[in-house]
Amino acid sequence: MDKLVIDGGIPLTGSIEVSGSKNAALPILFAAILASDSVTFSNVPDLRDIHTTLKLLQMLGCACEYADGKACITPGTLLPEAPYELVSTMRASVLCLGPLLARIGRARVALPGGCAIGARPVDQHLKGLEQMGARFDLEEGYILGRCRKLKGAHVTFDMPTVGGTENLLMAAVLAEGETILENAAREPEVVDLANFLLACGARIQGQGSSCIRIQGVSELRGAPYAIMPDRIEAGTFLVAAGITGGELLVRNCPFKELEAVILKLRDMGMEITATPEGVLARCACPLRGTDLKTQPYPGFPTDMQAQVMALMCSAQGASVVEESIFENRFMHVQELVRMGAQIKISGHTAMVRGVSQLAGAPVMASDLRASASLVLAGLAARGTTHVRRIYHLDRGYERIENKLNAVGARIRREKE
Ligand code: UD1
Repeated sequence: MDKLVIDGGIPLTGSIEVSGSKNAALPILFAAILASDSVTFSNVPDLRDIHTTLKLLQMLGCACEYADGKACITPGTLLPEAPYELVSTMRASVLCLGPLLARIGRARVALPGGCAIGARPVDQHLKGLEQMGARFDLEEGYILGRCRKLKGAHVTFDMPTVGGTENLLMAAVLAEGETILENAAREPEVVDLANFLLACGARIQGQGSSCIRIQGVSELRGAPYAIMPDRIEAGTFLVAAGITGGELLVRNCPFKELEAVILKLRDMGMEITATPEGVLARCACPLRGTDLKTQPYPGFPTDMQAQVMALMCSAQGASVVEESIFENRFMHVQELVRMGAQIKISGHTAMVRGVSQLAGAPVMASDLRASASLVLAGLAARGTTHVRRIYHLDRGYERIENKLNAVGARIRREKE
């Protein structure tokens, strides 16, 4: 197992490039199942979750090639089985359910278990697909889905679910008649998926709003598609500029999609400006605390909560963080406390009191975004931080230590 060893306290300066979005790429790669010929994607990040997805697509009968950020997927004779060995390493595997039912009317997908950040059920995915005519059984830990031709339906989600909206969207594009998704997720990654499906010939309206209308078509053709940039990686780099008191030009940064994060960072005293070359982030004066509550898009993203909490730890005054999307998403707190942070948790709320400087320590990453917050804290801390279990980080951040070292960080990867 690898760990990152970070010598902290160096202001980061220079320009840093954002990769393609993991959370947009995953559903879009699964959507290739829906096309009747090859699809070529660009700006696909070189990440563990992407390779897991390509492996799963191969097991489902697709030919997959990946090199230099380009993926080519050719659906062949499709098979219905997504095995536990892969689903247990990546919950997003459940996104093959909608496309498989739409294409072959059968799917046998391992039920994703609980994960570090909470129970994360898939009841909304199944309920919506049932409304479209699918039937499900649970068999030896697998969801067994069957259907004849899926039929359009009026689905209202109990809560805006990103994965649920994506699964239903993919099922609906090849269904018979019209599907209406209400209380749909509005995340930019859902819009990116819809844009890819539109490029392949799907008929979709309302993506980016909470009501999406889909008219089923009989076939989708393949189309080349470039994945959108990763707004969470971009947001993590903005925080890196702030927490180290540096100045970074974040290139390929989705500005509008990061609005809620940028407003909070400005509120804390960071200067963030859109320029033609990218987004310039700097920290000219001491940062001050703020309050935030995670919410579905366009609210503050839960995937940036841990990173901004790291920033709050070294800001002046108090901050309050309310996590309203996932339970157990404060796993980074005890590790930040080991670095000298002052944080108290009460239910879904964390109260942070800024300290003058964090101190390096050995810490353990528990999930993807928690790992990013520990790297950020390590960059700001006095002394050396050892971030263990960074396989979580490798699921979602492409070459993070290379990118950060190129703007002045001192990070090395070592074997445990
Ligand atoms: C996606 C993102 C993840 C992000 C999350 C919220 C991917 C691969 N992952 O996860 O990084 O943190 O959106 O922005 O894109 N829920 C149910 N029943 C369901 C589905 C969801 O109760 O059937 C609940 C979840 O437990 C959670 C909330 O709905 O409390 C939102 O979850 P959801 O939007 O589905 O998250 P994911 O798609 O799993």
